[in-house]
Amino acid sequence: MTPQTLIFIESQDYTMVLQTDWNKRLRHIYFGEKLVQSSDYALIAKQFRYNGVNEDVFNVAYTPSGTWNIAEPALQIQHTDGNPSTELHYVQHKVQQLQENVLQTVIDLVDPLYETSVRLFFKVYQKENVFEQWTNIQNGEKGAILLKKYASANLYFRSHDFYLTQYHGTWATEMQPVTQRLTKGIKMLDSKLGARANLYAPPTFMLSFDEKSTEETGKVLLANLAWSGNFRFDFEVDRYDNLRLIAGANPYNSEYQLKEGESFETPHLIFVYSENGKGEASRNLHQWARKYRIYDGEGERLTLLNNWEATYFDFDENKLVQLFDGAKKLGVDLFLLDDGWFANKYPRNSDFMGLGDWQTNRKKLPSGLGYLVKEANKKGIEFGIWIEPEMVNPKSELYENHPDWVIRQPDRREYYYRNQLVLDLSNPEVQDHVFGVFDTIFTENPKMAYCKWDCNSIVYNSYSAYLEKENLPQTHLYVDYVKGLYKVLQRVRAKYPKVPMMLCSGGGGRVDYGALQYFTEFWVSDNTAPIDRVFMHWEYSHFYPAIVLCAHVTNWDKSASIKYRTDVASMGKLGFDIVVEELSDKEQQFCREAVQNYDSFKDVLWKGDLYRLQNPYDYPFASFQFVSVDKSRSIVFSYLITNRFEINYSIEPVRFKGLDASQKYRIRELNLFPNTISSIDESAVYSGDYLMKIGFNPDIGLERKSVVLEVKSLS
Ligand code: DGJ
Repeated sequence: MTPQTLIFIESQDYTMVLQTDWNKRLRHIYFGEKLVQSSDYALIAKQFRYNGVNEDVFNVAYTPSGTWNIAEPALQIQHTDGNPSTELHYVQHKVQQLQENVLQTVIDLVDPLYETSVRLFFKVYQKENVFEQWTNIQNGEKGAILLKKYASANLYFRSHDFYLTQYHGTWATEMQPVTQRLTKGIKMLDSKLGARANLYAPPTFMLSFDEKSTEETGKVLLANLAWSGNFRFDFEVDRYDNLRLIAGANPYNSEYQLKEGESFETPHLIFVYSENGKGEASRNLHQWARKYRIYDGEGERLTLLNNWEATYFDFDENKLVQLFDGAKKLGVDLFLLDDGWFANKYPRNSDFMGLGDWQTNRKKLPSGLGYLVKEANKKGIEFGIWIEPEMVNPKSELYENHPDWVIRQPDRREYYYRNQLVLDLSNPEVQDHVFGVFDTIFTENPKMAYCKWDCNSIVYNSYSAYLEKENLPQTHLYVDYVKGLYKVLQRVRAKYPKVPMMLCSGGGGRVDYGALQYFTEFWVSDNTAPIDRVFMHWEYSHFYPAIVLCAHVTNWDKSASIKYRTDVASMGKLGFDIVVEELSDKEQQFCREAVQNYDSFKDVLWKGDLYRLQNPYDYPFASFQFVSVDKSRSIVFSYLITNRFEINYSIEPVRFKGLDASQKYRIRELNLFPNTISSIDESAVYSGDYLMKIGFNPDIGLERKSVVLEVKSLS
């Protein structure tokens, strides 16, 4: 008998161990903290008595279908001869150090009956304990095969209990968490929306093992599918109470044909694992994301004034130029012109028409975009622009001229989402058009400094005239849409590497680590009510670092003070969306000083570590703390969340985290409203030890509903 092969997918602290069985199937045998003695791994499989009997095989590393498997498969293929069965045998594997800290393992599997082969890729970012997994399927048969299911990853976990935290929402209510204990059977999370794919659920989840994890305790896995389209996660608790996780693009209406010699790369699943709670897991994920994934993740960002809520569609060039003065008064870096600046035959004065016709509206902006850029620059601010190039209003010249570029069933009634339709990005001509929208604006206006890229519609009537013409299956559309989008974004990035870009989808309707390879930041939600934003920020912060979370001060909830709104927005990538002139002198002064403060501590937020100190669900006040890498400086944001039962003040201190216990710190209050005096004694000195064991009371109350503290080391 051939000896079984052991494969170690190892990060700094954790390991995933795979092993072949006597049938050459590759099985998961361990996931968790490394064993002290590496020779012990070879002894694991022996401890399990379910080895060998087919109906007991649940832990296969990439489960095929149609042969021995009776569980949810990761792979379903219809072979050239129509046969729907697949078996996968281990052939070989290779481990490569791709760069310092990044190790990649590639495992080859093959069907003994057909020439189709599967490659499993595991890339591990050692220090951050982040795993990236995907699969490549290669058609070696004589003729076309049909991929019916093609998961990115098929994982297996042993534990007493599993708690899944999923997120749901819709426009303006993004990232609402629900946690449940998984029970036998399959829990599925998915999206079938096509373009604004995360409208109801992001491709993101948290899994706690044994018991619900806390910020500092518990085994926890945070995951994100790096794919800006339909996704599906299957969580199957098998009959041994173990968890099979199958994650990837949604196979719904997405059978993919591979011609002879072609291969298919699945989306990548990103996950981070920690046995020390959610806080550590997200700090590691943030570090990974900034260093390896987010576009210019370790770079700079621009503060801005946006005009969406300030004007909606109702503006002209004089009004905009006046608004520039507001940006100047605030001291932000850039003015961002939103929707409504384009289209002439069907002017974009509402969301009913004009989308797709990217010529400057002559009535509103007779002097063109170049004039606005120049005027802004004259005032010492940069200028940026909103586009939504993937979409079209039926009332537009684009739709009239190119109905075949639109995703629509030619003989059926059209259905609209926000009065618009989605362009068919599987079509290379449409890709050229979408790239051209960006390219024209940025070539004609070389000083254009920023782009907000929106995407408001989901896909109805999924049908592509292009795929029809090319004699390709219609079921390629959902996948090819995303591939087409990424091709466009790659071209944008190749030609415009320096332009910061905001990913927007009517708010957070399309956010994932696939898209963030091209974008520097994303619009969290159109809902900017500060209390709602505290909750959203709490949830998003598990997966994304502060540098990408765009947060604007608006009038969405005027019942909150400008200070509260600004303090909340100062936790993300700060911007404003208000008419500055409408603020009182004191409010303007406050905002200006807040922008200066933000500029002084943004490095701590953007590059430091986040500690979620006190959650807004269980306490009347919430607290977030950012700590610089060298622990010399920290910014703590605290907000009163509720007035219920008259517990509307901070009774107890909140324990700080991440400081140096042996250092001495002084605490100072920032973002004070003009003419108010802080209740914080700025002369007191505290040891890091004290602040982390006893804590500090930010003195939250009805008169001090939000408090920003700077904690600075004396040395
Ligand atoms: C949806 C975005 O989320 C808003 O911020 C704004 O840009 C509008 N679209 C414009 O139509």
